[in-house]
Amino acid sequence: MATFEPVLTRNFKTPDSHLLKTYESMDPDKVVQVVKDSELRGRGGAGFPTGLKWSFLPKDRTETFMCVNGDESEPATFNNRQLIELDPHQFIEGMLISCFATKAAICYVYLRFEYIHAFRIMEAAIAEAREAGHLGKDIYGSGFDLEIYCHRGAGAYICGEETGLIESLEGKRGWPRIKPPFPAIEGAFRKPTVVNNVETLACVPHIIERGADWFKSMGTPKSYGPKLYCVSGHVNKQVCVELPLGVTTRELVEEHAGGVWKGRKLKMTVPGGISMGVMSADEQDVKLDFEDIKKTGCLGLGTAAVTVMDDQTSVIDYLYNTSRFFAHESCGQCTPCREGTTWMYKTFKRIKAGGGRPEDLDVLAQMAETMGLTPGTTICGLADGAAWPIKNAIAKFRPEMEEYIRAHQALRPIVSTLQKAIAAGLSADPSNAPLQILPSPQAALRSPHGF
Ligand SMILES: Cc1cc2nc3c(=O)[nH]c(=O)nc-3n(C[C@H](O)[C@H](O)[C@H](O)COP(=O)(O)O)c2cc1C
Ligand code: SF4
Repeated sequence: MATFEPVLTRNFKTPDSHLLKTYESMDPDKVVQVVKDSELRGRGGAGFPTGLKWSFLPKDRTETFMCVNGDESEPATFNNRQLIELDPHQFIEGMLISCFATKAAICYVYLRFEYIHAFRIMEAAIAEAREAGHLGKDIYGSGFDLEIYCHRGAGAYICGEETGLIESLEGKRGWPRIKPPFPAIEGAFRKPTVVNNVETLACVPHIIERGADWFKSMGTPKSYGPKLYCVSGHVNKQVCVELPLGVTTRELVEEHAGGVWKGRKLKMTVPGGISMGVMSADEQDVKLDFEDIKKTGCLGLGTAAVTVMDDQTSVIDYLYNTSRFFAHESCGQCTPCREGTTWMYKTFKRIKAGGGRPEDLDVLAQMAETMGLTPGTTICGLADGAAWPIKNAIAKFRPEMEEYIRAHQALRPIVSTLQKAIAAGLSADPSNAPLQILPSPQAALRSPHGF
């Protein structure tokens, strides 16, 4: 394996990293072939081969749209943000080449609502690229036209799902579509559309410049190229670091994130955004690539954003937070997801309050098996993402969870007695008498009745 040289982040510390490079056109089909040969896999979560996805576009199409997924709502994930804010022209170059290859004349960058800074940087960079002749009509006299538009979401996780994104882009509620048809056949405005992640497209200029073999010289079999890994949670230093695909969480935590904080031990990690599941302490040497990670029972690599939890973290607290997130973010179209995620959240809330029952874990595990694309009961993968952390945690931490239920059940009568005593004490204290609502001086001035 050749020595690794970071490319995606090479301009991050360079002042004026937004300077434009010239790009020499190739035949579109040749570009698709080079990307296919590189075996670049999508960085947005599913790891689908990018060149293959592009080749699904109908040959006789008259119009194509490119939608770039910068929704980045997966908790703990912030690599797209870095790529946009710190090197927008690398990203624009990636879009330019990818649109050229797929014959897309319109490219939408769908940005997470909260990324206002990234949005402003993108708008300025697009204007600069247009000014320099890299966008617009007949670019470099090639006959190829391209316009890039930034579209801000409204803060919904589900709009990261590619068809939810397309619906939202069209001005509708971000409800994922039933597939097929897939976006390559019927996407934005019912036209052939490619949806790719920001990081996926940021890899493309380097593949074209250095070749497919260079790209495949990094990583592990079936998972090639560089990857931005985010590390956060209970570490000394939260980082976003570029490494070849296939590093381990142990390496990320110990060599790049300064180790587990407060001198504590690592208990578990979430490998790629919370929807991928959870890895126990003895699984930290498994490679974080598209294939090996599955050995841990996790759903996949996801966004490769690692959340670290120390040995003082409760598995129930982790699942309570996870299930609350998915119950809130479910779009509600599919009954197993809408009802399942809410039911799971309520169960963890009850367990935390000391009302857990021994049979809860079996019912939770059974429910987790029945919701999602994997068992074929939902329209999109949000439900799989909601189920996986629960499935994994029950399989890996069941004794701890059972002990939590037992211990909190035993505490329940004491807690309830204390709560009653506090409530009685509060009502006996005259300083806790109900507040009297008095008109404010401003209100008195405004109202003719003094109120
Ligand atoms: C609930 C849900 C949320 C998703 N959120 C994102 C996201 O924020 N960003 C992203 O690139 N892909 C996200 N995806 C994956 C996209 O549907 C799609 O596979 C991806 O954008 C394709 O790009 P890629 O092939 O370059 O990875 C999400 C999928 C699901 C099911
Ligand atoms: S699985 Fe959940 S989020 Fe996805 S479409 Fe169905 S209800 Fe909506």
